[in-house]
Amino acid sequence: MTEKFYLTTAIDYVNGAPHIGHAYEKILSDVIIRHKRQLTDKAYMLTGTDEHGIKIQKTASAKGITPKELCDENFSKFEKAWAELEISYDQIIRTTDEKHRKVVKQIFKKLLENGDIYKHSYTGLYCSGCECFLNPKDLTEDGLCPDHMKKPEEVTEENYFFRLSNYKEKIADYIKSHEDFILPSSRVNELLNQLKDIEDISVSRTKASVEWGIGVPDDIEQTIYVWIDALSNYITAIGYDIENPSEQFKELWPANVQVIGKDIIKFHSIYWIAILMSLGLPLPKTIYAHGWITIDQSKMSKSLGNVIAPHDVLEAFNLEKPDAFRYYMACAAQTGKDGNYSDEDFKEKVNADLANNIGNLLNRTLNMLVKYFDGEIKTEFISDNTSKIAILAANTKTQVIERFNKYEIAEAGNAIVSFADSVNKYVTDNAPWTLAKEEKMLECGQVIYNVLEAMRHIAIMLYPYCPNIAKDIMTQLNKESNFKYDELVWGGIKAEKITEKEKITPVFLRLDSEFAQDKKKGK
Ligand code: MSP
Repeated sequence: MTEKFYLTTAIDYVNGAPHIGHAYEKILSDVIIRHKRQLTDKAYMLTGTDEHGIKIQKTASAKGITPKELCDENFSKFEKAWAELEISYDQIIRTTDEKHRKVVKQIFKKLLENGDIYKHSYTGLYCSGCECFLNPKDLTEDGLCPDHMKKPEEVTEENYFFRLSNYKEKIADYIKSHEDFILPSSRVNELLNQLKDIEDISVSRTKASVEWGIGVPDDIEQTIYVWIDALSNYITAIGYDIENPSEQFKELWPANVQVIGKDIIKFHSIYWIAILMSLGLPLPKTIYAHGWITIDQSKMSKSLGNVIAPHDVLEAFNLEKPDAFRYYMACAAQTGKDGNYSDEDFKEKVNADLANNIGNLLNRTLNMLVKYFDGEIKTEFISDNTSKIAILAANTKTQVIERFNKYEIAEAGNAIVSFADSVNKYVTDNAPWTLAKEEKMLECGQVIYNVLEAMRHIAIMLYPYCPNIAKDIMTQLNKESNFKYDELVWGGIKAEKITEKEKITPVFLRLDSEFAQDKKKGK
C-alpha cells in the first residue's frame, strides 16, 4: 500500500489531567496508526488538546492562575502520559497555538462571507453557575439547573449562528450513501434521527460571558465558541490556510479516519461535516466512534472518586513498559461498545494472553530447541507455506488486515491470540518431547520450527499493541525486524543458530509472579 493514511483523535480538554478514558482513545488510535505504518510509509497521526472555553476559564480562576498557565500545566500532563504509553503521534496540536488561532479566524470569516454565519438575537435560559445557556430539555422537573439546583434566568444575547439547518438533507444523503462514513454502522440510525431535529447553532458568545477563546474577526464584543475552534484543528494542524494551503494539507486531507468517543459523534458527523461543506473541502472517509470505558462498571467521575490515571495502573502493577496496559485497553471492548476496566480483569487477561499463551509458548519452544538441537535450526526442519501452521498464519494475517480496515481493533487482537492458541494446541497434539524420546528428531525439529516461525508472525502482528514485547520476541528469535507486513512471508527463520540456554528469558512476566510481587514491595 503506497496510499497515505491520515488519522486524527479527538482533542482533550485540558481542564484536568488525563485519565484512562482519554488513554483508551489514544491507544486505539496508536494501534491503528502503527498497523498502517506496517503497510505504508505515509501514515500520519494527529492528536491534541482543546484549550479554550468557559470551563478552562473557570477552573483557572478558581485556582488563581491565568487560563494559559492552567493549559500549560495540564498540557504537559497529557504529553507525559502519551509518552509513557508510547503513543507515537506525528503531531500534537494545542488550540492556543498561534497558527491555529489565525486560521480559525479565517475560517469563521469565510463562513460569514458564504452567508452560513449570521448574527441573531437569542433568548434563552441562562445559568450563572454554569455560565451558559441551558436546553429546557436538560432542566429538572421543577425547571432548575441540574448541576446548581438554581432556576436559570431568561436572558437575551446577540450571538453569531451557523446555518446548520441548510445542510441537513445534504448530510443525511451523504451518510446514507457512504456506508464506511460512520463506523460502527450501528450508530447511523441514531444520527439520522438527531439530524431531523437539528437547528442552527450558536457559534459565538459575548466576551462578557466567555473571554478565554479566539475573538470573532472584526467584532471585539464576541468570542468564537468551542466547536468551530476545536473541530478546525484537524485541518489547521496540517497547514490548512484559506489563501495558501500547505503541501502537507493537500497530501493528507481528507482524513482516512477520525477517531472519537460516542459522546461527540453529533459534532463530528453533523457540525464538522457542514463546516467542511461550506468551506468546499472534501469530507473525511470515516468517523469512527468508540465506546466508553467504565470503572468496575460505573462511569468515571470526580465525584465518585474513581478516576484512574494511566500512570497509576502502570505503577500499581510495577510495569516499566506500557505493553500490557496497551494490549488490555485496545482489546477492552468490542468495536464501538463500552468497555470496563478492573484490576482483576486486567491481570487475568494479560496473564492469560501475554504471559501464558504467547510468552510461555516461546519460552518452552526455545528451551526444547536448546535441549534437542543445541539451539540450532537445521535446513531439513524448515517447512514451506503449505504446512498447516503456515496456512493458519496466512489466514490470520488476512483476518487481521480485514479487521483493521473496519477499525475492529479488539477483534484483530483476538485473531492474533487465537492463532497463538492454535499453535499451543499444535504443540500439545504433536508433543515434540515425545517425538524426541522416540528419537524422531526430524519430526521434532519440524514442529519446533513451525512454532518459532509462527512466533515470528505473532510478533509482527502484535507489534502495534505491544511494541516492546514484539521486539523482545524478535530478539529471542535472534531476528532483525522492522515489523513491516512484507516480512509476513513464511520461512523468515533460516537454518541458523537461534539461541543458547543463557539467552532465553521470558518476554512477559505474569503480573502476579513472585518477581512482580517483589518489585512491587520495592525489593
Ligand atoms: N474537547 C472535546 C473534543 C473536541 S474534538 C474536536 C472533548 N474533550 S474530552 O476531554 O472531554 O474528551 C476527549 C475524548 O476522550 C473524546 O473522544 C471522549 O469521548 C473521550 N473520552 C472521555 N472520557 C472517556 C471515557 N470514560 N471512555 C472513553 N473515552 C472517553 O470532548
